[in-house]
Amino acid sequence: MIGGGVMGEAILSRLIAQEMYSPETVLVSDPSPERREELAQRYHVEVTDSNRKVMQSTEEVLLLAVKPQVLPRIEADWDSIKENLEHRPLLISILAGIPILRLKAALDPLPVVRVMPNTNATVGASMSAIAPGSGLRPEQLTLAKTILGAIGEVVEVPESAMDAVTGVSGSGPAYVALLVESLADGGVAAGLSRSVALQLAMQTVLGTATLLQEEQLHPAQLKDRVTSPGGTTIAGVAELEAGGFRSSVIKAVQASKARSQELGNS
Ligand SMILES: NC(=O)c1ccc[n+]([C@@H]2O[C@H](COP(=O)([O-])OP(=O)(O)OC[C@H]3O[C@@H](n4cnc5c(N)ncnc54)[C@H](OP(=O)(O)O)[C@@H]3O)[C@@H](O)[C@H]2O)c1
Repeated sequence: MIGGGVMGEAILSRLIAQEMYSPETVLVSDPSPERREELAQRYHVEVTDSNRKVMQSTEEVLLLAVKPQVLPRIEADWDSIKENLEHRPLLISILAGIPILRLKAALDPLPVVRVMPNTNATVGASMSAIAPGSGLRPEQLTLAKTILGAIGEVVEVPESAMDAVTGVSGSGPAYVALLVESLADGGVAAGLSRSVALQLAMQTVLGTATLLQEEQLHPAQLKDRVTSPGGTTIAGVAELEAGGFRSSVIKAVQASKARSQELGNS
């Protein structure tokens, strides 16, 4: 693993906890001595400040978990050792916005899987979209899905869908956080304490997602189920519709997708 930050740790912690990899088979590089010490103490994995050491010793999977702007430095490290490599591990990149073509050029000739996880990975509830690069063997794709499965759900998409994925599940946690916050604000406006309002809002979002998922309900079915004639919920729904709730969310996804495309082209 190159880059032992927030996402790297989220993945590492679950791979170790679920015994997918035993600690002595994992090597993590990170520039910060404190961070290396933390990861070594928590997960008993080997750590290093040398990306080259990771690149040279990796047999199965090279997980790239640095910020996208660090890629040129990784490329420089790779260029200095790539002639003498013994293995061709699978490269799994979680770098937001970095296309497979760019990854392949940077870490040639490794087979590549591009992943877009989301911040919920830190609690094992990520929605990760994965796009396989060309020339990937079926067992390598399966391995990538298994690894990403350790931090949540996984869906395979063509790379062309990654900007749209960013609009929905990449940026989605922020939209849902806004929903929770505004539900709680509504509760406070209606006379509840802030803490009670937040608890109600949070559990309602969590419970609704669980219900939709476990009972495989279409959202419209659930909405119809809880809106009785002349009742309280349809009164609230009518206000949301008047305020353009649906079209605001749709536009938010489109705006995020467009911004992702812009950043990818810059
Ligand atoms: N966080 C999310 O919710 C999320 C969601 C989707 C995708 N991603 C993607 O996940 C990747 C990692 O994000 P993150 O949130 O985990 O970032 P992060 O916490 O900053 O982790 C990156 C780690 O890489 C280290 N690093 C910096 N330069 C390095 C180098 N040359 N070699 C090796 N390691 C180096 C950093 O160390 P220093 O801090 O000391 O520089 C840091 O520990 C990003 O590409 C991001 O686009 C993140």
